[in-house]
Amino acid sequence: MQTQVGIVGAGPAGLLLSQMLHLRGIQSVIIESRSRDAIEATIRAGVLEQSTVDLMVEIGAGERLKREGFVHHGIELRFRGRGHRINLHDLSNGRTITVYAQHEVLKDLIALRLRTGGEIHFEAKAVGIDGITSERPTARFTTKEGEERELDCDFVAGCDGSYGVSRNAVPAEEVRHDYFRVYPFGWFGILAKARPSSDELIYAHHDRGFALISTRSPDVQRMYFQCDPNDKVENWSDDRIWEELQARVGGDGFQLKMGPIFQKGIIPLRSFVCEPMQHGRLFLAGDAAHSVPPTGAKGLNLAAADVHVLARALSSFYGTGSTDLLADYSRTALRRVWRAQHFSWWITSMLHRFHDASEFDLKRQLAELDLVTSSRAAATTVAENYVGLPLT
Ligand code: DHB
Repeated sequence: MQTQVGIVGAGPAGLLLSQMLHLRGIQSVIIESRSRDAIEATIRAGVLEQSTVDLMVEIGAGERLKREGFVHHGIELRFRGRGHRINLHDLSNGRTITVYAQHEVLKDLIALRLRTGGEIHFEAKAVGIDGITSERPTARFTTKEGEERELDCDFVAGCDGSYGVSRNAVPAEEVRHDYFRVYPFGWFGILAKARPSSDELIYAHHDRGFALISTRSPDVQRMYFQCDPNDKVENWSDDRIWEELQARVGGDGFQLKMGPIFQKGIIPLRSFVCEPMQHGRLFLAGDAAHSVPPTGAKGLNLAAADVHVLARALSSFYGTGSTDLLADYSRTALRRVWRAQHFSWWITSMLHRFHDASEFDLKRQLAELDLVTSSRAAATTVAENYVGLPLT
């Protein structure tokens, strides 16, 4: 099997890249280890930055997102039992965020890619990438029938997430440097059949730990609370979950709207960056190259930003033969990645309870929350970073 750009992984990065390349007349083939059903059913985050929405619209995948996504003009930070609004819209020159679940983004992108002649091989597991410093790299994969196949291409885009083969194809000793931080807590996430408790997302600081109130639709709500990363879902009955969430967001009479919980899960929090994001003709994008803690809602948006840079560089190569933009890919993408790492770490550190925190640390955290909700300059910094930087 042959193509111009071999894409490993049909997540947000791989699918967006494939469609952007298609619109520029560049061929690609996607190989993806999971089934289409599994991809479309996996619950992930749900906040899209303004530029991610703009990109979806630009490539022709924005119709349902525009119809069903919820545009938010602000967020609330709650601490000392009171809510403080950050007006994202006014503080960022009219930019907003849209709440639309990641698996809905994936459904839209898969449907679009297949409708426009895209080639996606599901249940095709990449097992290795060879020849990345040659002119003709190859992605080796096994089909669902168990056959070994090869995808020969000009370039490989490694979009196969934190556990894929792409990252490890960059030689660890000579070339790659991994930057890693594990946080001593996780998030317990739920989906509940309930009415929205608030018009906007709530990020809450509390002695018992962080909580986040988000939404999916008028009937389905998404909420999270900080937990021990080794805790077990079975330890948490619905009653206990609601009690914990209510304790963390209550205070001034604010009352959560409750309902049956139909999905529960625990996610770890970590920060990771692999440098460089390119080696030879292999380009890493999205979670294959980096992960951020979910607090800043940046994961999917960073993946979109990476492939935006990559699509332009590939287009320049196929249009003019110049490798300048390709050579600059890693440096360009990493600048934004580290900005997002900083922002995600900052918001995480401001809102979470750390086991070893002293009284002083707690007072400092509250002072920082006072700062970002009372100083226009500090609130603007939060707003600009939360709605996201313009795409480069
Ligand atoms: C959601 C997830 C996040 O990590 C976040 O910061 C905000 C919202 C969500 O799943 O809705």
